Formats: sequence, C-alpha cells, structure tokens
Amino acid sequence: MDGLTDCYAREILTSIGGYDLCVTEFLRVTDTLFPKRVFYRRFPELKTSNSTISKTKSGTPVFLQLLGSDPYVLADNATKAVQLGAKGIDLNFGCPAKTVNRRKGGASLLKYPERIHEIVTSVRQAVPLDTPVTAKMRLGYDDQLLALDNALAIEAGGVDWLTIHARTKKEAYHPPAHWDSLLPISERLSIPVIANGDIWSVADYYRCCQQSGCDSVMLGRGAMVTPDLALQIKSALLEKENIPLSWDAVCGLLNTLYALMLHNSELNNRYIAPRLKLWTKWLMPNYYQAETLFTKLKKINDPHQAIKLIQRSKAK
Ligand SMILES: Cc1cc2nc3c(=O)[nH]c(=O)nc-3n(C[C@H](O)[C@H](O)[C@H](O)COP(=O)(O)O)c2cc1C
Repeated sequence: MDGLTDCYAREILTSIGGYDLCVTEFLRVTDTLFPKRVFYRRFPELKTSNSTISKTKSGTPVFLQLLGSDPYVLADNATKAVQLGAKGIDLNFGCPAKTVNRRKGGASLLKYPERIHEIVTSVRQAVPLDTPVTAKMRLGYDDQLLALDNALAIEAGGVDWLTIHARTKKEAYHPPAHWDSLLPISERLSIPVIANGDIWSVADYYRCCQQSGCDSVMLGRGAMVTPDLALQIKSALLEKENIPLSWDAVCGLLNTLYALMLHNSELNNRYIAPRLKLWTKWLMPNYYQAETLFTKLKKINDPHQAIKLIQRSKAK
C-alpha cells in the first residue's frame, strides 16, 4: 500500500508470520525505462545477495507492483526489474488516485478490457516464464458491469493469479466490500482468484472465503490495524492456538521500525517520526493505548523523542 507498506513495514509484518507473499507499493511507469536506483528505492529487497534477493529478512517473497498504461514501457520496466532480481511482477489495475487515473493508469483502465489484455500480454511475453506475473483489479470503475470481462482479459493475458479488491473505483474504500461479487469470477476463471477488501479479523476471512469462493486473501489495511492478522488467520487454519499481540509487543514492533529506519544511512531522519505516527494512528481501532500515544506523538518531529514516548507507553 502506497505510503504504508514500505520495505520496513514489509519486514516487520512478515517477521510476525502468516504471509506467503507481499507486494511492493506501486511503481508508476509513464514513458521511460527507469534507472536501477528507482527500482532500488521502491524495492530495497533487491539490494541483497542472491539467496535473499526479492525477499524480506524472514524469507517472504516480494513482488514488484507496476502501474501504468503503456504495454511496451511496462514490459521493458518489468524485464529490467526481473534482471535486477525481482521474483515476480504484479500489475495494478485498481488504483483510484486522481493523478494516476487522469493518465489512464490504475482503475481507469477497467473501462477498457482490451487495453488491459494488451498490457498483461505484453508484460507476460517480456518476462521469463518461470517468473510469475500477477494482477490486481477492482470490480469496475463506476459499476461492476465489466468485472468478468476484465478478469477474463487478465486471465487470457497469461497471469498466474488475479487479486480482486471487491469494490468499484467509485466506491473508493467505503464498506462493505462485495465479496459475493467475486463468486461468479472465481467460479469462471481457471487461475486462482485472491479476494481482497475489508478483511479485518479471522471471522471476516472465513466469511469472505465462503462468499467469494476464493481460498486465499490479500490483506490491506487490516494488516496495519492488526499486525498479526495474517498469523491469526494461519493459526486458525492450522487449528493452532495463537495469542494476539499485546500492546507491549506492538510497541516492540514500533521500536523495530524506528531501529530499521535509523539504521539506514540513506534515509532522511525527517521520515522517521511521521512513519511512527502514521502506524500508531492505524493501530487505534485495535489498541486503546494507541490513541493516547498518538495524541502525544502528533506534535513530535524528532525521532528520538518519538521513540522515547513509545518506550514510555510500553512501560506503563
Ligand atoms: C493508503 C493506501 C495505499 C494503497 N496503495 C496501494 C498500492 O500501492 N497498490 C495496490 O495494489 N493497492 C493499494 N491500496 C489498496 C489496498 O491494497 C487494498 O486493495 C484496499 O485497501 C482494500 O483492502 P483492505 O480493505 O483490506 O484495505 C492502497 C490502499 C490504501 C488505503
């Protein structure tokens, strides 16, 4: 998620467990082949040795997400990413952002299944067959009328699986997600369909799978609110006991986030406090202590002061 699940968040979330895969924030492709440094900035997991490349520290694979509308420039950038070590390419056909849609990228493409097919085909043909190409779409732009057409166009383009955010672009992030609208698609497609949208708890996971006919889900905001949600789901599936993360443990995660960012000499220190505040805010629906902490953090810009407040919150 753009602005949320950067490499630090990916490292922290996957270290908790329960994730089979994660995807970078989108990299918007317009008309150029990016230099190496652009890929590395968005996807620092490429900067490691061969055995750990394109994986988080805990070994979870990371795919690069590309967003754009030019089939050939997207294919060139996908090829370069794979040459740099990306283990998979995900194509974004769901972003509702105005700047993205004005340039005919993201969700705006959902009005044109043929164009989507062209993009997927072009990227699939450019990327070696042993590297998965996947896609993510919404149910539509204004309505769901083209949902199946788009899904079939993506499948015909040769993706390995398709993730569907069960809302239209017009619905933005408003609840509810229409899990049942995924059923005719998951029944019709031969490739796996991954359900996404409004999975905030283990109970949501089960309801979503039942209504959508999907076996797998993609977590979005729920992972920020409940950092161990994937582990809770995996544990439930394996009938294993799992104790939800305590506030102390969550403060430990924020401390790790701080340490990871501080450790990166290329990262401007000004980035640190906003990140700590942002995640603390996301934790508020699940941890009452986050609200008190956020009120204090709000006024702080110095990372060292911010972490002291977090450590104090843990000690209480
Ligand atoms: C701040 C924000 C940034 C997002 N950025 C991306 C992105 O870069 N790529 C993407 O595929 N989806 C992105 N999404 C959409 C989520 O991946 C997800 O599809 C959506 O939030 C619905 O799932 P949820 O209800 O579990 O959050 C973003 C969502 C939010 C709230």
